[in-house]
Amino acid sequence: MDVRPYEPQDEERQSDLDLHFTAGPGIRVRRKYAQLAGHGRMHRRCHTFVADDGSRIVGILSAAIKDVRLGGHSARAAYLFGLRVAPEARRHGIASALHARAEQAARDDGAAAVYAIVMTDNASVMPLTRRFALQPIGRIETRIVPVTRQRPGRVDVTIERSAKTVAQRIDRFFETCDLFAPGPERYPAACRFAMHFAQQGSSFAAVTQSSHSAVLRDVAEFVPACLRPLRRFLDAIRPLVALPHLPAREQTISTWWIGEPVLKGPEAPRLLRDVFRHIHNKAQEENVHWLTMPMRPSDRQYPAIREAFSVGRLARLLRVEACFRSRLLFKPLVEPCAINPERLYLDTRDF
Ligand SMILES: CC(C)(COP(=O)(O)OP(=O)(O)OC[C@H]1O[C@@H](n2cnc3c(N)ncnc32)[C@H](O)[C@@H]1OP(=O)(O)O)[C@@H](O)C(=O)NCCC(=O)NCCS
Repeated sequence: MDVRPYEPQDEERQSDLDLHFTAGPGIRVRRKYAQLAGHGRMHRRCHTFVADDGSRIVGILSAAIKDVRLGGHSARAAYLFGLRVAPEARRHGIASALHARAEQAARDDGAAAVYAIVMTDNASVMPLTRRFALQPIGRIETRIVPVTRQRPGRVDVTIERSAKTVAQRIDRFFETCDLFAPGPERYPAACRFAMHFAQQGSSFAAVTQSSHSAVLRDVAEFVPACLRPLRRFLDAIRPLVALPHLPAREQTISTWWIGEPVLKGPEAPRLLRDVFRHIHNKAQEENVHWLTMPMRPSDRQYPAIREAFSVGRLARLLRVEACFRSRLLFKPLVEPCAINPERLYLDTRDF
């Protein structure tokens, strides 16, 4: 088995490296990557390693190199992501070899630390993270809500699409957070980033929205039988009432990612609700099915963000809002290298 840097001709030789996970009410999703190294292209600098068994590519792992804030200073960190090993090649040490290689590349590139995000219920990856001494430092909830048509809010919501302008407006709110990468590099053109914001007096609320569709496609692999009649019923009456979307089997689920919530001033939670109403309506115009947003339960603004993001009682009743729980794992490569778990920035490119 050869573990080596990715080469473009590897695209022709990939085996089954799709990810499978459960979203919504028991809906199994297959995440297909358009290209092996596609996700890495969201980052200005990224190393991707593959495991080559001589005929097929049977494993992959990437390390995005980011210039971030760490312990209040500028530092370099590597985000390890996209680890997959083909089912028939598992338990032969491939993931361990890929991890060792990626960590070495991070050191060689001057990274002071590596970090990764793993789902809490992914038992197969936890021993690996322990073996490489990655420490859990924070909890993340990735919430999914179905797009629904909404009554317009009371305030006007503005959209800004220039990466430079968005960075100028957003950076100051996160510049003291650890793992924050300043500047417009957070908004690669392929992700079609936009900032949606509302202002009233001294209050301000904003989020950024992006799409990963240039890189990956989520396909509904399994929809529980009990939901199928419900989906047909919802589809039949949808023109009359605003109802959440349930995917059909084999349907591609189109998702917008939401991140970088900013709340400033006493009216901000109300403004944020209006921003989300506006995003739902825009998403519906563009046939987007789900909105996904990573958030940190330890963030002091978490209750307001979570409340504003929820699409309300009907969706909860139909159990079509979903939540993935994951852990942020961190490992310093040089001493001392501090991180403040209470002030962490979540980058939507990392999900
Ligand atoms: C998780 C995954 C990458 C592991 O790949 P792998 O090549 O089988 O991992 P390794 O052979 O290097 O295993 C390292 C250790 O992890 C543990 N481990 C791996 N798979 C495991 C499993 N299914 N159950 C329990 N422990 C497991 C073992 O302790 C193993 O060491 P051992 O075989 O000496 O006992 C692979 O199962 C996979 O691709 N899963 C689907 C995608 C995924 O979950 N990616 C991680 C996203 S964060």
